[in-house]
Amino acid sequence: MEIRPQDGKKLGVVVSGFDTKTASDEDVELIRKSVYTDKIVVLKNQHLGPQEFLELGCRFGDVEKYYQPMYQHPEVPEIFVSSNVVENNRRVGVPQTGKFWHSDYSFMQLPFALTFIYPQVVPKKNRGTYFIDMGKAYGKLPEDLKSAVAGTRARHSVRRYFKIRPGDVFRPLEEVIAEIEKESPDVFHPTVVTHPVTGEEILYISAAMVQELLDADDLPLDDAVLQQLLAETGQLDMTFEHENIHLQNFEEGDLLIWDNRSLVHRALHTTQPEPAVSFRVTVQDGHRW
Ligand SMILES: [Fe+2]
Repeated sequence: MEIRPQDGKKLGVVVSGFDTKTASDEDVELIRKSVYTDKIVVLKNQHLGPQEFLELGCRFGDVEKYYQPMYQHPEVPEIFVSSNVVENNRRVGVPQTGKFWHSDYSFMQLPFALTFIYPQVVPKKNRGTYFIDMGKAYGKLPEDLKSAVAGTRARHSVRRYFKIRPGDVFRPLEEVIAEIEKESPDVFHPTVVTHPVTGEEILYISAAMVQELLDADDLPLDDAVLQQLLAETGQLDMTFEHENIHLQNFEEGDLLIWDNRSLVHRALHTTQPEPAVSFRVTVQDGHRW
């Protein structure tokens, strides 16, 4: 197994020669360490069935299934499926997922520690994922902005991007909203969290999920502060040329593992009518902030 930096990239390492069937626990630990320090690990030349992909995730911690069945793989429900493919009139997974800055499950009490993405059908054009390292981005903030958010909390909500489920058709909207509020009420995380493994301070906000910031007395901060934070970190740059933004492309056989606490990400979906399918497994690592 060989680990080396990604050529010409701001983030991440590439691992060649990793085979989950023969890898030792030491190999897995090396990769885990690299996920925390390098933030993105690309495992090359992976050829795994859905069950094997799940087993790989299990080597890194407790796999957590996504709470909504419509995203789940029909045979291996721990796998979340992003897919624009319809076969025999049957849709598996959900199309156009994650096309907004977020970190996975930040709208839950315990967001995932690690995200594993394994593209299954890779379109030739415009497919990839944008990332911003919110630890590094926090380090670059002007001191007055850091002081403005010290001791504050952020309200995360799934509301803005919640997708209508097949079973919601013909249901009264009020009833659907009440159900969503019961299943996934807003949660509060510190605006700046300390990574439980690396000790790094991370600005834990995203454009998609964070609705407002609250001070120590639970009073809302001026929205301009949140907007300034999002702008400074690159999350409002629709040209995606901000210096903090890293575009991760992938080719067939790549399997990405990333530190979901440190990074926000945003899917770049194909603008062509090309099929695209991706499997995801998400893992808890036993740590929390
Ligand atoms: Fe995501």
